[in-house]
Amino acid sequence: MNQTLERWSSRRAFILAVTGAAVGLGNIWRFPYITGENGGAAFLLLYIAFVVLLGLPVMMAEILIGRAGRRGPMQSLGHLARQAGSSGHWRWLGLFGAFTVFCILSFYSVVSGWSIDFMVNAFSGGFVGKTGPEIGAGFDAFLADPLRMTLNHTLFLVMTMVVVAAGVSKGLERLNNLLMPLLYLLLIVLAGHAATMAGFGPALKWLFTPDFSALTPLVFIHAMGHAFFTLAVGACALMAYGAYMPDHQSLPGAAVAVAVLDVAVALLAGIAIFSVVFTQGMDPAEGPGLVFVTLPVAFADLPGGAFWLGLFFLLLLLATWTSSINLAEPMVATLQGWGLKRRSAALVVGLCVWLVGLLCVLSFSTLSDVYLIGQMTFFGLVSTIPPEVFLPLGGLLIAIFAAWVMPEQEALRALDAGPNGFRLWRAVVRWVSIPLVVVVLVSGLI
Ligand code: TRP
Repeated sequence: MNQTLERWSSRRAFILAVTGAAVGLGNIWRFPYITGENGGAAFLLLYIAFVVLLGLPVMMAEILIGRAGRRGPMQSLGHLARQAGSSGHWRWLGLFGAFTVFCILSFYSVVSGWSIDFMVNAFSGGFVGKTGPEIGAGFDAFLADPLRMTLNHTLFLVMTMVVVAAGVSKGLERLNNLLMPLLYLLLIVLAGHAATMAGFGPALKWLFTPDFSALTPLVFIHAMGHAFFTLAVGACALMAYGAYMPDHQSLPGAAVAVAVLDVAVALLAGIAIFSVVFTQGMDPAEGPGLVFVTLPVAFADLPGGAFWLGLFFLLLLLATWTSSINLAEPMVATLQGWGLKRRSAALVVGLCVWLVGLLCVLSFSTLSDVYLIGQMTFFGLVSTIPPEVFLPLGGLLIAIFAAWVMPEQEALRALDAGPNGFRLWRAVVRWVSIPLVVVVLVSGLI
């Protein structure tokens, strides 16, 4: 396939697109609940360390491969590998990435669908005056209703694939320009609202006073996987976006901006959610239902609660929308590389993801007793193994490719940070990021 001539229209558009990919369920749903399950501050600190030492350098590696190749992930990898005199088999890394995002999108779409249902319910006052146990029971009843879950999953996936079919720059730029600033505004309002709650102080204390005795090798795996997941790194999805990156934009500058925004959103969401948890005396380790149960409880008897809660789920929906569009991109790009038209590719991807998503839906009802590896339901499996094992593995290979395999001149040019910036980045990837992924993966999995 020839090089793409399509570009994001500005530097800001590129940063917005990557932030749109990064900020999503990972920040607002997954971050609070796994931080809750892993003991709070020590986990948070570890996750931030992984973002800085691993997520950021590997994010730069991933985007620069796309930018140097200016093609779909598989084609960029194959092209650059051959140029360096290496094996064209590197292109299979693009396929592995597409498989990873396929697994992720199948549960991502289901959980994002929850926010559609909850948004409608919240705005229409469905949670007003309900007690904690009533809301908890309502959430359980929702999970046990495959039809309602399927409807929301379908709606969300259609929303996603329509934008994907319209083409990245056209569909996505317009959406991002509007949604991202709105999202930050809404989050700041919510965090400000949380500051007036009694649980605000305890929440801050719990989030920022680490207890290192809680750290085990498995907690390292969770934190590492989450750093990759939240930054959207490790599945060649940002590589696909890098192909459209404008010339004359420093890649490290853009990547740092994205990571700062991403961590800021997670912290704001965490503060808002745990303030509620501590105000209501709830359990931070509630699990995947955390956001969906605690927030309706908190807002149930507040003045204007229905509105604030609806707004929160609207915000979550907007954030997950731009992320899922990014999740679909490597698959669509791969099929396009194999000669399919963009629309047909989007249709095929949508249908396959929808079908596997049904298994996630049923994991909460009909298939809730079917356990796969390690006592996990199908949903448990696809929401754990791909983020925590496939993404770090993919990230490791991406890092090796960018720092050891691809032609140095190409990497230097695509990073666009001068010779010293390049040497610093490459040294960090070679001697910090790569060994760190290997050590954490090996020690966590044995
Ligand atoms: N980062 C997104 C989130 O936090 C999820 C996501 C979007 C993603 N694109 C990705 C995860 C690519 C891995 C790979 O919700």
